Amino acid sequence: MLRLESLTKRYPTGDLALKGVDLEMPKGQVLALIGPSGAGKSTLVRCINRLVEPSSGKVSLDGVEVTSLGGRALRRMRRQMGMIFQEYALVERLTVMENVLSGRLGYVGFWRSYFRRFPQSDIDEAFRLLARVGLEHMVDKRADELSGGQRQRVGIARALIQDPRLLLVDEPTASLDPKTSRQIMRLICELCGERDLPAIINIHDVLLAKMFAQRIVGLQLGEIVYDGSPQGLTDEVLTQIYGEEDWSATVGKGGEEGEAEESAEHHDLPEPDRDRLAGMT
Ligand SMILES: Nc1ncnc2c1ncn2[C@@H]1O[C@H](COP(=O)(O)OP(=O)(O)O)[C@@H](O)[C@H]1O
Ligand SMILES: [Mg+2]
Repeated sequence: MLRLESLTKRYPTGDLALKGVDLEMPKGQVLALIGPSGAGKSTLVRCINRLVEPSSGKVSLDGVEVTSLGGRALRRMRRQMGMIFQEYALVERLTVMENVLSGRLGYVGFWRSYFRRFPQSDIDEAFRLLARVGLEHMVDKRADELSGGQRQRVGIARALIQDPRLLLVDEPTASLDPKTSRQIMRLICELCGERDLPAIINIHDVLLAKMFAQRIVGLQLGEIVYDGSPQGLTDEVLTQIYGEEDWSATVGKGGEEGEAEESAEHHDLPEPDRDRLAGMT
């Protein structure tokens, strides 16, 4: 279980990005963190694995206080938190297989990783994961030859080969077209389900969040202003999170994936709605 207590972040510039956030997440839950640009979504996710150092407050995972760890213990904790990024963060000149195996670097010793000599069990697992994310035919391709969706599949496999206890996902679909976005979100959520793996997914696309997440947390100016079910995201709530807008195209869609299947696709929406959603970052 993940627990955040009074998590606060003030950047050296003076920006107060998180104002005492409290959050508890049970095992296996997929939580979508929504909110406008600058709300603090990336800061929150990065404070959990301390890529960003919180100013005050506590983060604990399965009873271990992450915020008090240092050195080797912090590195060990970090590798238990898989991360997936908007811009994939792959090594362009390495192959798909090598990129996935780089997720094991926290486990194999320095010299083995220096020579990129991984145990056979890691290689077998990489093959299994690549098959699971649909890239078994691309194992030897270089990362820079892949499409955006394929890159993100590599990013997902790399995070999972860490065998994480928590998945932190920052705008996984922001660089992808609507159809690929949906496939990637579905894949992430299915994998979490299969592994009982909790995930926090920062996503500015409200429709996608509603379609796939079990719980939605709305962040605004560093504070939680909504925490509840996808169905509970009403006009009023969205206005509170994003400001005054006509939400008729967003409310009433999502939730059940089957029910929302075609209608929730961005390019199926009338032009003004598409623009409005696109601007909601
Ligand atoms: N490295 C940084 N230095 C200073 N301020 C930052 C930094 N990163 C983010 N911020 C500020 O913190 C606030 C939250 O940013 P961020 O977490 O990136 O929000 P989001 O991911 O929701 O767009 C914003 O006001 C932003 O300008
Ligand atoms: Mg962000």
